[in-house]
Amino acid sequence: MTMTSQSHPQPKPGILDISAYVPGKSGAKGARVHKLSSNESPIGASAKAIAAYRSAGDALELYPDGAAAVLRTAIANRYGLMADNIVCGAGSDELLQLLAHAYLGPGDEAIYSQYGFLVYPIAIQSNGATPVVAPEKDYLADVDAILARVTGKTRMVFLANPNNPTGRYLPFSEVKRLHAGLPAHVLLVLDAAYAEYVRRNDYEAGLELVATSTNVVMTRTFSKIYGLAALRLGWAYCPAHVADVLNRVRGPFNISTPAIAAGAAAMQDQEFVERAIAHNDAWLPWLSNELTVLGLEVTPSVGNFVLVHFPLDDAHNAHAADAYLQENGFVVRRMDAYGLPGALRVTVGSEDANHALVSCVKAFLS
Ligand SMILES: Cc1ncc(COP(=O)(O)O)c(C=O)c1O
Repeated sequence: MTMTSQSHPQPKPGILDISAYVPGKSGAKGARVHKLSSNESPIGASAKAIAAYRSAGDALELYPDGAAAVLRTAIANRYGLMADNIVCGAGSDELLQLLAHAYLGPGDEAIYSQYGFLVYPIAIQSNGATPVVAPEKDYLADVDAILARVTGKTRMVFLANPNNPTGRYLPFSEVKRLHAGLPAHVLLVLDAAYAEYVRRNDYEAGLELVATSTNVVMTRTFSKIYGLAALRLGWAYCPAHVADVLNRVRGPFNISTPAIAAGAAAMQDQEFVERAIAHNDAWLPWLSNELTVLGLEVTPSVGNFVLVHFPLDDAHNAHAADAYLQENGFVVRRMDAYGLPGALRVTVGSEDANHALVSCVKAFLS
């Protein structure tokens, strides 16, 4: 037996190099706190989903259906897909992690873009692989920069479309160009967590690309437009061979019964989704415009949040703004971890929250 001098168990190489994900804060001062830090739904969840969640409480002693059949069928029916090609996860986070777990190992490389969602490097490094960052242009993923970084070691490319935290998106023609430039053995993961919010004719989440290729997976979430973030629920649409792999590595009961029930009901409540879209359609441009009028630079967003760039002077920079907002009951997201210390990310809130936030930012700047 070989003895080592370690005083306690050590994780695998690479794990201690990971910068842990920092979630949005949930507290601030003030009688009324507006949490605008995690891109959550300002209109709650579907009443039908909440009712389904509650009724699932009647049989908590039973394990869930490990196949989440009711939920996968509801998703398949909604989008005209084969249920066998859908795999559900405890949040799309779990699916991103499982994909990395199944397809990446030491010596492999996986590419993501400069301001891409920070779960990607965590998923990559957790599996001993090397994250490769492709620079963006104007806060937008650059297909040529990604393709230029493909090497013999590349196994995966993660693309959030639209991206969090920038809110920008690549038109489908660019996604297709990216796919066309990748070798067949490289898995392209299209993370479409904010797809439902996008109102652009040249956008597609990627259903068609998944259906017509063997190396593309699209992930979706119930945490944003469906307002079910607390339940941790997401899904992936995959080629059959990828679904098979995910079903081998996932936990046998990775989705809880209340999440299955609420998710299926939410999928069938299109009227609620339309309401959530209408809210965002009204308030995303309003918020972007009001903050621009105050003299701030707002990256044009198609999601349910905006990236707001503050002046550089100590009195008016993003850190000072964050502190001021917190003092006044607003929780927004600092962007230091994304290499954007001069910016804050603000979720589109309720009508009240949006008005109050703009007034507060105005007071801060004046
Ligand atoms: C781009 C992107 N992908 C995935 C997720 C993960 O969502 P969830 O795990 O709640 O499904 C988020 C959440 O903020 C996100 O912004």
